[in-house]
Amino acid sequence: MAKKMWEGVTEANTNKAADDFNASIRFDQRMYKQDITGSMAHARMLAKQGILTDAEADALCDGLAGILEDLQSGKLPVDETAEDIHMFVEQELTQRLGDVGKKLHTARSRNDQVALDIRLYLREETDILLEKIRGFVRVIADQAEVYKDTICPGYTHLQRAQPITFGHHLLSYAMMLLRDADRLRDCRRRMNMSPIGCCALAGTTYDTDRVFEAGRLGFDGICRNSLDGVSDRDFALEMLSDIAILMMHLSRMAEEVILWSSWEFRFVKLDDAYTTGSSIMPQKRNPDMAELVRGKTGRVYGDLMALLTTLKGLPLAYNKDMQEDKESIFDAVDTAKACVDIFTGVIATLKAIPENMKKAAGEGFINATDLADYLVRKGLPFRSAYKISGQIVKQCMQEGLVLENLPLEKYREHSELFDTDVYDAVDLQNCVNRRLSAGGPGLASVEEQLNWVRGQLD
Ligand code: ARG
Repeated sequence: MAKKMWEGVTEANTNKAADDFNASIRFDQRMYKQDITGSMAHARMLAKQGILTDAEADALCDGLAGILEDLQSGKLPVDETAEDIHMFVEQELTQRLGDVGKKLHTARSRNDQVALDIRLYLREETDILLEKIRGFVRVIADQAEVYKDTICPGYTHLQRAQPITFGHHLLSYAMMLLRDADRLRDCRRRMNMSPIGCCALAGTTYDTDRVFEAGRLGFDGICRNSLDGVSDRDFALEMLSDIAILMMHLSRMAEEVILWSSWEFRFVKLDDAYTTGSSIMPQKRNPDMAELVRGKTGRVYGDLMALLTTLKGLPLAYNKDMQEDKESIFDAVDTAKACVDIFTGVIATLKAIPENMKKAAGEGFINATDLADYLVRKGLPFRSAYKISGQIVKQCMQEGLVLENLPLEKYREHSELFDTDVYDAVDLQNCVNRRLSAGGPGLASVEEQLNWVRGQLD
């Protein structure tokens, strides 16, 4: 049985199993820096308002700085019998400073304190994740540059569809990731409002200055309703949603990397540093990193669902259920950072095998649309041209030919409009280079996309 700081109307003697069940210190100790930073700003605000003396605030801030240093150096171990990180810091401060330590918790509650700490924590994590995404996009852009004229088949329904370049394909992921970054920045803007000073739920009778305290902590403003301030976890939900979308993008890319590196495709070779062998089959080069990224995506979706579900039935304001927010939040953020890191390495070291891409591009009649377009240029309506092209493809398939080597007289059996320039029209390189519509795979268009992506990174 342990004595509690909240001894008041209750004896504060709870059952040991209940203590353990109730505690969050095992996982919320990672927010110690944010907790201490928040407390320092709080002490300064209390002094500015004359609620504490300047000397008291100085003592509190020095004491807090000492605790921070000792935690960072490992000199001060976290006492896991404390209920949570907020209790632990306050308890340690009081041990070090005596009575003045007990003044820190004036005009606040753990409810606004924890809401503050999570915001501070996620704000930092957002910036870290944004930096990682930026590094990843840079790597994608560099690879897209290398492969900007490497022809490969573009797919729909996983059927070879039309010719593109590998650089064009890679750049599509840069676009997705830039949107992910944009979403995170947007989320950060709403996150950056301070709940501190909402207190337990109903504000306080002390003459506090929440705007001052928010400003010291780098917030853009304050939560405007005290009940909402302590109850709101939208910012975490938004961040987890954004991360879930980011993971979905990584997972799609991972799936393609897995396909491309398969023996069936052999479009790319993954670097040895990012593949694993099999314990029994010596020929294997397994794309484990990509598979794990794909797998971890499910787990991040789970984190988002867990948090949504935790919150959905809660009456205002704080309920202890909310303590369950942290593990999902931390897990999602840790997982996303690790996945972006590892996938940056996978893509940076990946090598395309252009011959295999070219070969696949040459076998799938992916220039059939271009053949139809050729007839359209000669005056046929698209639907009629489409039909003729289809018949020609069918004939090629029967005779084991491709559009590039079907003799002209055979073409002319289908339409008088065919001439020798048809071979120019179905040449894959020409097919790609002619696709200069904005956003298309033509070299000039890809270069434009590349410039735009690089511009976004600056
Ligand atoms: N450890 C708690 C949490 O993570 C802190 C807030 C506790 N507040 C309370 N009134 N019990 O949510």
